[in-house]
Amino acid sequence: MSLWGGRFSSANADAFRQFNDSLAFDYVLAPYDIQASRAWTAALAEAGLISANEAAQLQQALAELGDAVAAEPRLPLATPAEDIHSWVESQLIEKIGDVAKKLHTGRSRNDLIATDLRLWGKQRIHELQEACLQAIQALLAFAERYADAIIPGYTHLQRAQPIVAGHWAGAYVQMLQRDVTRLREAAKRIDSCPLGSGALAGTTAAIDRHWLAQQLGFRQACENSLDAVSDRDFVLDLLNTASNGMMHLSRLAEDVIFYCSGESACFAMSDAISTGSSLMPQKKNPDLFELLRGKCGRVFGHQQALLVTLKGLPLAYNKDMQEDKEGVFEALAQWQQCLAMLALAMPELSVNVEHAQQQAQLGYSNATEMADYLVSKGVPFRDAHHLTGSLVVLAQQQGKALEQLDLSDMQQISALIDDDVYPALALTYGLHKRQALGGTAPAQVHYAIKRAQDWLHAA
Ligand code: ARG
Repeated sequence: MSLWGGRFSSANADAFRQFNDSLAFDYVLAPYDIQASRAWTAALAEAGLISANEAAQLQQALAELGDAVAAEPRLPLATPAEDIHSWVESQLIEKIGDVAKKLHTGRSRNDLIATDLRLWGKQRIHELQEACLQAIQALLAFAERYADAIIPGYTHLQRAQPIVAGHWAGAYVQMLQRDVTRLREAAKRIDSCPLGSGALAGTTAAIDRHWLAQQLGFRQACENSLDAVSDRDFVLDLLNTASNGMMHLSRLAEDVIFYCSGESACFAMSDAISTGSSLMPQKKNPDLFELLRGKCGRVFGHQQALLVTLKGLPLAYNKDMQEDKEGVFEALAQWQQCLAMLALAMPELSVNVEHAQQQAQLGYSNATEMADYLVSKGVPFRDAHHLTGSLVVLAQQQGKALEQLDLSDMQQISALIDDDVYPALALTYGLHKRQALGGTAPAQVHYAIKRAQDWLHAA
C-alpha cells in the first residue's frame, strides 16, 4: 500500500511507478531512517501525541527492524515499496499493526529524507577523514623512505631544479591535509537537524526541536522549515570536497605516471600494482594511477549534475531533489576507494635512486645555482640570469653540462667566475642550500615530515 493512496481511485502506471520509486538506491538509508524514526517516536511521546505504551511498541519494532537491516542491508529490496520511508512504515505495520500508522504524525517525508541524508553524510565524512589520514600516512612513509633521494623537479614539464622525492610526496601530504580540513568544515555545516520541519511550514506537534536534534547527535536544529526541507548545500559540500580531493589524487597520479614512464624512469611500480599488455610483452602499465586520474570524471560530473539540478528550484521541496542521492552515493564511494588505493600503492612505489639522480643532473637544472653564484660575486640577479643564459647556450653548443665547461670559456662570459664555481654547480650544493622553511633541503624535508606526523597524531 502506498503512503498516499486516499485521493486516488486507480493505481499508477507501472512504468511511471518504476520511474518515480527511489527504493532501489535509497535503501542504503534504512539505518538512518530507523534512527530518525526512533527519535521522532520519543518526541511524539514527549508531546503526548502517542501513549507511553504505543511509544514502547514502536521502539521495540524499530529496534528489531534495525537489527534485521544490520544483518542484511539489502533487505528492503525484497519488497516493492516506493522509497525507504514507505518501506520502514510498511514493515512496522506488518509487525505491530495500527500503532505503526501513528508514527508519521506531524512529520513529512520531506523533513525525514533531509534528516536521513544528513545522518548518512555525517557517517561518510567520518569514514572519509579516516581514509584521508591513511593515505597521508602512506605518503609520509614514502617521504621518509626517500627524504634524500634526488629527482628532477619540473615546471612547464621542463626540467627546472632538483628536488628530493620526499619533498614531492610532502606536497601531496599538504593537499590531503587540506582535504581533511574541508571535510571538517563540511561536518560543521551538515550538523543541523531538519526533523520537525514538517512538509515545509513547520510541524504542529508540540515538540522541542533542540532536544530532538540532540537525540540524533546533531549540534543544532535547522532554523527555518522551508530551508530545512529544501537545502541540499550539505550534499554539494560533500561533492565539492570529493571533487577537490579527487583532483589532488589525479595530479598525484599524473606525476607518478610520468615518473614511471620510459622517458623518465625515475619511479618504478611493483608487480602488485601494475598490469601488463595483452600484446606487448615488455609493458608494465600504471593502470592503478590512471584509474585514480580517470575516476575524477564521474565525481566532477556528479558535482555538476547536482548544481544544475538545484539551480532555479523553487522553494520548498521538489521531486527533482530525489536526484541528489545516486550521485553523492557514488562520488563518495569512488573517492573513498581511490584513497584506499593510494594507501595501497604508495608502499609499492619506489624511486630508482641512482638513475633519478643522474636525470636530475641533466637539463641544466643547476642554472639557477650558476646565477646565484654570480650574485654571490656581486652581480645583480637580473644580470646574473642573463649571463647564465649565455653560459647555457655556450654549453649547449659544446654539447656539455654547465659544470663541464672550461673555466677559461666561462670567464669569456664573466670575468668574475673562478674555480670555486665548480662546487657551486654540484647537484647537492643547491639542494642543501634550500634551507628556508618549506624548501627541498633534506633537513627541511625531515622537519616537514615531523610536523605532518605530529599533525597526524593530533588528528
Ligand atoms: N524519495 C524522496 C527524495 O529522495 C523522498 C521525499 C519524498 N517527498 C515527497 N513529497 N514525495 O527526495
